[in-house]
Amino acid sequence: MQGSGSQTIVVTGASSGIGREIAIQLAAPQRVIWLIGRDPHRLDEVASQVRAKGAIAEIAKIDLADLDAADHFLNATFPSGKQVDTVYLAAAVTLFGEVQDMLPEDWDKIYRTDLLSPVQWGRHFYANMVEQKAGKIIFVSSLAGYAGYPTATAYATMKAGLLGLYRSLCHEGKSHGISIFLASPGYVDTDIYKSAMFRKTTYEKTMNSIKGLGFRILSAEETARAILHAVNCDKREFALPAYASVMKWVATRMPLVIDIVHAKMVKNFRQSP
Ligand SMILES: NC(=O)c1ccc[n+]([C@@H]2O[C@H](COP(=O)([O-])OP(=O)(O)OC[C@H]3O[C@@H](n4cnc5c(N)ncnc54)[C@H](OP(=O)(O)O)[C@@H]3O)[C@@H](O)[C@H]2O)c1
Repeated sequence: MQGSGSQTIVVTGASSGIGREIAIQLAAPQRVIWLIGRDPHRLDEVASQVRAKGAIAEIAKIDLADLDAADHFLNATFPSGKQVDTVYLAAAVTLFGEVQDMLPEDWDKIYRTDLLSPVQWGRHFYANMVEQKAGKIIFVSSLAGYAGYPTATAYATMKAGLLGLYRSLCHEGKSHGISIFLASPGYVDTDIYKSAMFRKTTYEKTMNSIKGLGFRILSAEETARAILHAVNCDKREFALPAYASVMKWVATRMPLVIDIVHAKMVKNFRQSP
């Protein structure tokens, strides 16, 4: 247990994009922030920014798709009884391409990183928080979890899995004093597009087809700010920005509208220069 008044926060995906911004924006004296990712240089850069704001930064370089390594790390570093107050699970990868062009190992990588890993980390900290009778776990999902995402089907599948996890766990957690959150952004300008896998398409073609849809693209900084604000206000399940919030609502009530958007997505993808 940390000293009185101090808080321990864990952020996966802390080396880049939304997770990086969450870690930096959360940094303040009396906070210990665990930065989880694979790239040691980017983790070091984030740690410097976190420390400059008076927080303690701890770095863990882990491949989250390696579930055995993650299990070892979690049990060694956060054993039962070790206080962790808040966990942001933001790490993910994606792939652009049509399903017939995907390889079995593509599905496996996305399954491990985007679904099994948040389940593993969420379960681990949830168990500690049941003992503490307090805690917050924030799953960073995507609008794709509600609406689907043709040409990023595996990604959408895993994010839909997080929706099922959230909708169930949030009720179990209540009686233990644990708050579960599901944050679902629309498009955000981050490296997830550059580091994506591409099957019979390219980064340039993918970005052209996304831009052709005309949706507002948020910055990582404003996305993190909105997520932290929602968590602060105890808003448990939310999409951002406004168009994503509308599409989240429309996805279950007026699926025909989503069909129109998706038809355009597939057309843009196939015709993109
Ligand atoms: N960008 C968008 O348009 C958008 C929209 C909706 C939802 N989201 C969600 O927002 C979250 C953050 O994504 P982002 O857009 O900020 O992407 P990003 O800039 O690419 O960040 C992804 C993070 O995940 C980490 N990561 C990926 N695979 C990993 C692995 N095997 N082991 C450890 N760490 C791994 C990366 O760290 P290393 O590179 O150091 O491994 C990086 O820190 C994701 O859950 C994503 O699905 C993004």
